[in-house]
Amino acid sequence: MSLEQLLAVIPSGDADEELARQINFEQLPAHIAVIMDGNGRWAALRHRPRVEGHRAGTESVRETVETAARLGIDVLTLYAFSIENWKRPAAEVSTLMVLLKRYLRSELSTLLRNDIRFRVIGRMEELSTEIQDELRLAIDRTEHNPGMQFNIALNYGGRAEIVDAARRAIQSGMSPEDLDEQRFASFLYTAGQPDPDLLIRTSGEMRVSNYLLWQIAYAEIYVTETLWPDFRRRHLLEAVLAYQKRERRYGGISAAPAAIGAE
Ligand code: FPP
Repeated sequence: MSLEQLLAVIPSGDADEELARQINFEQLPAHIAVIMDGNGRWAALRHRPRVEGHRAGTESVRETVETAARLGIDVLTLYAFSIENWKRPAAEVSTLMVLLKRYLRSELSTLLRNDIRFRVIGRMEELSTEIQDELRLAIDRTEHNPGMQFNIALNYGGRAEIVDAARRAIQSGMSPEDLDEQRFASFLYTAGQPDPDLLIRTSGEMRVSNYLLWQIAYAEIYVTETLWPDFRRRHLLEAVLAYQKRERRYGGISAAPAAIGAE
């Protein structure tokens, strides 16, 4: 999309307008991956139950998805539920599933209006049939949309994904000599998608938490202290601007003085 598409949802005179105008639309990250963290702390700061943080985080999801699509990002991947998250209290897990269901119902029209294609990465078949049906509906309805690919990582683990890919590679009958990095990537959940250029983590933690382990090999990591429920359009624009100031070398040497825009 473009600056005009983005400005269309920013009220005139809003501080976000100034940020949007600073973005170099020729040098956008093709894929942004986000670790949405800090919902529990957001709720604790307000003396409210943890699930209130997740509920508030849904609005951040809504705004991030629409902003990324309007910016012209090709792929956005949000980490909504890891394999390890099953260890949380059953009531919290079930609230997360309810929130996901509500989000899909209320936001399907936004996804359609913005030409967004929705997909799930993770072991979806292990989720309840009710959730799977809801996810399937959104996947099917948005399947042919030509705009941004929106992946939601659900029941996801980076190591599990690599194990699943190895199983698929073996099942495909490919001989070990034929297997290389490119072919292996074609067995991952994200087959055919560009690797993340930018990995955003909220709430200040410096960890990758088993997220897209293969795909983030060369991603630029951006950690913000902002807790996920406070994450808004402005924060996404700030992350993209920070990314555009980085120098990416992919293991090579610096072609100094070069930022991303000069590659
Ligand atoms: C991490 O915060 C967040 C999660 C495990 C779940 C993210 C879920 C949502 C944003 C809401 C529903 C999702 C969608 C896609 C509608 P935490 O609970 O680990 O926070 P803490 O580290 O402060 O305890």
